[in-house]
Amino acid sequence: MGDTPHIRPLVAGNWKMNGLRASLEQLSALKSIVQTDLPQCDVLICPPFTLISQAAIALNGTVIALGSQDCHANTSGAHTGDVSADMVADMGASYAIVGHSERRADHGESSELVSAKAQAAIGSGLTAIICVGETQQQRDAGETLSVIESQLKDSLPPRANAGSVVIAYEPVWAIGTGLTPSADDVAEVHAYIRGQLESLMDTGSSVRILYGGSVKAANAGELMDVANVNGALVGGASLKASDFNGILDAYRR
Ligand code: PGA
Repeated sequence: MGDTPHIRPLVAGNWKMNGLRASLEQLSALKSIVQTDLPQCDVLICPPFTLISQAAIALNGTVIALGSQDCHANTSGAHTGDVSADMVADMGASYAIVGHSERRADHGESSELVSAKAQAAIGSGLTAIICVGETQQQRDAGETLSVIESQLKDSLPPRANAGSVVIAYEPVWAIGTGLTPSADDVAEVHAYIRGQLESLMDTGSSVRILYGGSVKAANAGELMDVANVNGALVGGASLKASDFNGILDAYRR
């Protein structure tokens, strides 16, 4: 599995703004499959905020972890409509995704804000999954690596380490489109991220680097075999237990 067998992979599902209480059935289904056929990776589901506490009850005692899709940079206070990392942790989650490209685009989130959110997540005992990735235009202009370099440098909070952060490389043009970069392109970017992490932190060689963007059962095996790919961040294919389980099969071979 890649060239970094000492890193335990993580396969994370990001439900985005999908899921009502009835969707908890998918978690029950996933729970029974995963408990009887354990993959060799950590498994995480990030439902919308509204479902985290009920999901925590549904998944209590299982290996499936829970995370949020965002958190505020402050611990509490006058921020109407926002949710703090303390609140996320209090609901039973152990991860928070920060800096997803949809939040960077929809809410104008800068890498500096993403860093502050990651810091808040870590401060509340959560692992921060920090997302980076280039747009199609940036890729076409040959700017992929420079975009990744600056997003990574500016989004990583001070004193981040392999236990407190996960990086997700998600090319914006691959999200929800069915398009994926070639294995060689993924390898190039992940190797670059690995090098950057090693120069930015002592534990950079052990930080998990996930690939995200149109991961599905049919391509998970090939993508997860790429060097320095330590798991996946999955959107659409995480909504149904059977689809998500097909991706987990990449870690049952
Ligand atoms: P997708 O989304 O798997 O639906 O492409 C990935 C993501 O945005 O995390």
